[in-house]
Amino acid sequence: MCGIVGYVGVSSNPVEVVIEGLKQLEYRGYDSAGFAVLRNSKVELYKEVGRISNLEEKIKGIDFSDIEGIAIGHTRWATHGGITVPNTHPHISNNGKIVLVHNGVIENYADLKELLLRKGYTFYSQTDTEVIANLIEEHMKEGNSLEDAVILSVQELSGTFGVVLFYADEPDKIIAIRKGSPIVIGIGDNENIVASDINAIVKHTKNVVYLDDGEIAIVKVDGIKTISFSGKNIKKDVFVIDWEVEEMDKKGYPHYMLKEIFEQPTAIENCIRGRLLEDEGYVKLGGISKLEGIIHKVKKFTFIGCGTAYHAGMIGKYLMENIGWMPAEVDFASEFRYRNPIVSQRDVVVAISQSGETMDTLEALREAKRKGAITMGIINVVGSTIARETGMGIYIHAGVEIGVASTKAFTNMLVALVMLSVMVGRKKKLGIFEGREIVSSLKELPELVEYTLQKTNKVTQELAKKFSNYRNFIYLGRGYNYPVALEGALKLKEISYIHAEGYSAGEMKHGPIALIDENMPVVVIATKHSVYDKVVSNIQEVKARHGKVIAIVNENDTTVSKIADYTIEVPYVIEPLSPIINVIPLQLFAYYVASTKGLDVDKPRNLAKSVTVE
Ligand code: F6R
Repeated sequence: MCGIVGYVGVSSNPVEVVIEGLKQLEYRGYDSAGFAVLRNSKVELYKEVGRISNLEEKIKGIDFSDIEGIAIGHTRWATHGGITVPNTHPHISNNGKIVLVHNGVIENYADLKELLLRKGYTFYSQTDTEVIANLIEEHMKEGNSLEDAVILSVQELSGTFGVVLFYADEPDKIIAIRKGSPIVIGIGDNENIVASDINAIVKHTKNVVYLDDGEIAIVKVDGIKTISFSGKNIKKDVFVIDWEVEEMDKKGYPHYMLKEIFEQPTAIENCIRGRLLEDEGYVKLGGISKLEGIIHKVKKFTFIGCGTAYHAGMIGKYLMENIGWMPAEVDFASEFRYRNPIVSQRDVVVAISQSGETMDTLEALREAKRKGAITMGIINVVGSTIARETGMGIYIHAGVEIGVASTKAFTNMLVALVMLSVMVGRKKKLGIFEGREIVSSLKELPELVEYTLQKTNKVTQELAKKFSNYRNFIYLGRGYNYPVALEGALKLKEISYIHAEGYSAGEMKHGPIALIDENMPVVVIATKHSVYDKVVSNIQEVKARHGKVIAIVNENDTTVSKIADYTIEVPYVIEPLSPIINVIPLQLFAYYVASTKGLDVDKPRNLAKSVTVE
């Protein structure tokens, strides 16, 4: 998916900021990169297909010391037109003065292009983006100011767009536009940085302003003005990001994913800090105090999310029913938004998202709001669109997650869901002793996760070597650990490209058992909880058909060790927290399989970290 970085200021080298920023967005996936600067009132464009390093190679030896304090850059993921230099952004208007980068899709670009062709414009690319630059030029030709020409142009565009532009004759500003595609502005010291993602900004400043849909920002070195698409002034809040710059470093790990797996103890500590009330067996969740006050009126919780966040929501349903004594549902955000869900004003819809920008989750949330539901978020990125639109929520404080495969955000989502369920349960039937047991287990969790990492790191690595050439896997779990089986399978398939199916262990005999033979590895979560005996029977069924069983068991388990081919031991924890422990060896196993195969673990093919398109 594309990435945008823009710079205006006097403190840094604009080219360095833009290139560095684009590198921070590399994880999003792209196939060409480019940037534009201004020298002696003339726009200079530099573009290259392939990696950013190709672009760096191309500009080696070029002196940028006398350029103006302005630059915009882009990493393109081809949609309209092939991967070529002319199609690479930035795109420039025919008069050579308006230059811009764009994320999203202009749906009516063909009509607009036709219109502009008739007016004598020439097009040099096959993109949908080039029309925007020429449309603005056309409106300026009619006598409008740059600002007014931008306003007139956005009113004619349909589709989604995050656009950043500058105009050669007004080099003191860049203009950012948002409709459906995220734009965030970092407020620095004598410099401001505009980007599609805060990763490109945090090195320079932690103070950020998020544009909302239908907003335009005129960003100068000494301030920002925000207006609506109809030209009305809008006052914006400044959010302070709680990420540390050091987090952007791999810290000696070969991949961000492995680093993030090992960061889970610290991430969980950050998530529970100041939130556990041990004596009362209760939790303090400041971001949902409004909900706490009206919880007796609530009839149902619905969790929505995509991918890994959806798996967290599935576990949220179990937690809400068992601990919260509350009816709960879970749905893929992409299904929820189109299935006409029955949601009342006494229902809470919980949007779960690491990035806070996933389009399907955002649209499902908006649908829930239209239906009058109470909404809240379980989100990692502070101030992200979903966090702002939910109105209340629990930040999971996992820190920056760069590896495309989500790991520490998943476990922190689960911690937040446990705390939410305790809050709800204690207002209902959950007694103080049960509350205390959960809360004190949460307190011990960082240490237990650290222990699990140390205990399972080597064995998962060895198993990965044995199994990296298999083409198919089945993952089985029951109860709380059924979604963990789905998550384990998702981790494996997305980074190793091995086909893996997650199944409820009890469902196996209703179909998938036909797949079992001596070539089918079956990963089973078999820790000692309520459904342990049932899972043991399911393992027997697999063994009877010569499947190869890798079982996740508790320390000192003797039953499963006798029947499974391989076991991975994890420490015991109370059942509601067991997914947080049990998923760790599955994350490690997926990581080691992919790295054994020499794959690009942090940037798996065809995937993007935040999916801001439908
Ligand atoms: C899987 C993964 C994706 C995301 C999904 C939702 O490892 O990362 O499945 O979980 O795209 O993303 P967020 O949580 O940002 O809404």
